[in-house]
Amino acid sequence: MKNVIISNSTEETLEFGEKLGKKLKKNTLIALYGEFGAGKTVFVKGIAKGLDCTIDVNSPSFVFMNEYQCRIPLYHIDLYRIDKPENILNLGLDELFENQGICVIEWAEKATGLLPAKRIDIKINILDNGNREIEVINR
Ligand SMILES: Nc1ncnc2c1ncn2[C@@H]1O[C@H](COP(=O)(O)OP(=O)(O)O)[C@@H](O)[C@H]1O
Ligand SMILES: [Mg+2]
Repeated sequence: MKNVIISNSTEETLEFGEKLGKKLKKNTLIALYGEFGAGKTVFVKGIAKGLDCTIDVNSPSFVFMNEYQCRIPLYHIDLYRIDKPENILNLGLDELFENQGICVIEWAEKATGLLPAKRIDIKINILDNGNREIEVINR
């Protein structure tokens, strides 16, 4: 299933993430693609809100993963500063979130070929006018 929406503001991206977060079930992997500043972290904040997560979501800059206790545990990974994504991902994402959580990966383009086939890909593009095109592909 493929779905494309246009977000005109940070708030709209948050709301779209929240809407998705409300629908998510455990054992879900979400791969986020898009350049620096596209809105990946904003989108994750929305997902966290939709999962009734009360803690503020920030980029996991100094650790490779942040864990948030939400309706379903949320594992937030950012591969931006990771030299060898395979070192992390070969640990087995299954074990990482024990099939009970939701795993969100920013900079998933660094892990092409390493991700399980069953996942939700979310690609965020910055359009010329600054709006964001958000493409959701449910694989
Ligand atoms: N439509 C939009 N959707 C998401 N973010 C937007 C939008 N318009 C402007 N922004 C701004 O762009 C920045 C996106 O930052 P961030 O989510 O950290 O990006 P990334 O994680 O992809 O590097 C934020 O400062 C946000 O306020
Ligand atoms: Mg980010």
